[in-house]
Amino acid sequence: MNNNPIGVFDSGVGGLSCVPAIAKELPNEQIIYFGDTARAPYGCRDPKEIIEFSLEVADKLIGMGCKSLSIACNTITAVALDALEKHCSVPVIGIIPPVIQYLNSNYADKRIGVIATEATVKSGAYPYKAKAAIPFVPNIEKAGTVPDEVIREVLDDFVVDIDVLVLGCTHYPFARPSIERLYKDLIIVDPAEELAKKTKEVLTANNLLAKEKKENIYLASKVTDTFNDIVRRIK
Ligand code: DGL
Repeated sequence: MNNNPIGVFDSGVGGLSCVPAIAKELPNEQIIYFGDTARAPYGCRDPKEIIEFSLEVADKLIGMGCKSLSIACNTITAVALDALEKHCSVPVIGIIPPVIQYLNSNYADKRIGVIATEATVKSGAYPYKAKAAIPFVPNIEKAGTVPDEVIREVLDDFVVDIDVLVLGCTHYPFARPSIERLYKDLIIVDPAEELAKKTKEVLTANNLLAKEKKENIYLASKVTDTFNDIVRRIK
């Protein structure tokens, strides 16, 4: 048993899309969320820089007493998971490995496609047909969603030969209602739930589950209206 908080982090507001799933799976855990909004997007950055920023954020959360770190960011997981695991004194849970396991178990017979950031696509961390949905993150950081015409521009051609669309960036679930409305036949997978289940599994295995719930804390390197709006929505 350990009543310290769990750290959850992302490059910006995207990882907030994972918080409800983590809170549902682990109702006794206090979450400290950190979004590096001042330096988002990470997805167009050099891997060296992504690793450097990620280790900095991890140190900050561990310094605040976090007993584990859940990386609610595909880009950080794709590029920096190994470095974080080596660097951190607490268990680190990446968002990509558990969703690949889930896809293997549930959709092995389907045609899978993933949309993600440039850095995630380049890393090859998702072994599927992949496309960088470059304009999505700036739209979501600014307005919390993506206009239909931008979604169509990115997805119309990409989805013609896939059955399952993985939202391989934690910002994208904020555009999920629009994507679902535009492409009714697609099976959409949001990795958040798998991150939440894996976090529970790791806390349980390490005897780190909390008994006492304390209020979650939401931090950002630059607090924006979008950040505050989304925090209000998920609380
Ligand atoms: N939300 C992040 C992800 O899951 C990255 C967004 C960005 O900073 O480019 O990949």
